[in-house]
Amino acid sequence: MSTNITKIGVMTSGGDAPGMNAAIRSVVRTCAYHNIDCVGIFRGYDGIIEGLFQPMNARSVKGIINKGGTILKSARSDEFRTKQGRKKAYDCLVKEGIQALIVIGGDGTFTGALVFNEEFNFPVIGIPGTIDNDIYGTTHTLGFDTALNTVVEAIDKIRDTASSHNRLFFIEVMGRDVGHIALNAGVGAGAEEVLIPEEDLGLDRLLDSLNRSKQSGKSSSIVVVAEGDKIGKNVFELKDYVDEHMSYYDVRVSVLGHMQRGGSPSCFDRVLASRMGVKAVETLMQGKTNYMVGLLNNLMELTPLKKAIKGKSKINKELLRVSDIMTT
Ligand code: F6P
Repeated sequence: MSTNITKIGVMTSGGDAPGMNAAIRSVVRTCAYHNIDCVGIFRGYDGIIEGLFQPMNARSVKGIINKGGTILKSARSDEFRTKQGRKKAYDCLVKEGIQALIVIGGDGTFTGALVFNEEFNFPVIGIPGTIDNDIYGTTHTLGFDTALNTVVEAIDKIRDTASSHNRLFFIEVMGRDVGHIALNAGVGAGAEEVLIPEEDLGLDRLLDSLNRSKQSGKSSSIVVVAEGDKIGKNVFELKDYVDEHMSYYDVRVSVLGHMQRGGSPSCFDRVLASRMGVKAVETLMQGKTNYMVGLLNNLMELTPLKKAIKGKSKINKELLRVSDIMTT
């Protein structure tokens, strides 16, 4: 494989996700394998502007494949949103001798990378890392699988107490704009109902559905709600509404929150991260830029960053139907 690139920078940006460390490890070791220098950049785009650079070799990333979070830290940078900030970043990269960037994050991270490339013709490749799985061009983002396992484990525990007290639980899970976590974890944990932004069930149909499940003999119920769901203002308002209209359930709310983003990555996320890191470095070595690496039909594929940002990650309709059937 031929390349003119001799030094690559790697960074994480936006919300952290399990598997980011495994991806950093993979990028660093792939660089070492191909005799390319690798520089870790701390705190995302802010770190480029502030020159928070750390040369990394194969041994710098030992013992991190199983760690949640990101050893490079993450940040959402306001300064990088300005042209002046990006010029500072460019100057810092040139001073450090970094010739290309691998950015690990979500669509905000990719938007920054694309603008940067368009302004300075600086080679960039994206690795999708977010628990929300809301990126076009990959069936799985890093952290999604781990987050699902975390959520299913939490719901299993809540179900124990729900069934002991004949309670109805609304469990809010992450997913600002999409319902991938809610739908998959809902099916995986056997929830009675799943509320996601992509589908507007409406309060009346929610009550009908809960009444049906009560009449079918269920004494407790779990409703998984994506944080971006549009029924009601929030999960607490849903609780109040159901409390008012259904006397036989004692209703509780559980917001799982940021615990969903933490923890040791699953084997699936570790393997995916390792594959994505290799593909990202070798794509730069082929002289390509402005792509995101992704998993499609179990192959590592490239999607133009522009498409990854603009495209919609669609909810799995077949899984929606499965969810409906399972709640009978
Ligand atoms: O990482 C994505 C995400 O988990 C969203 O689902 C959630 O809305 C958001 O991050 C919360 O991010 P923060 O509280 O870190 O700003």
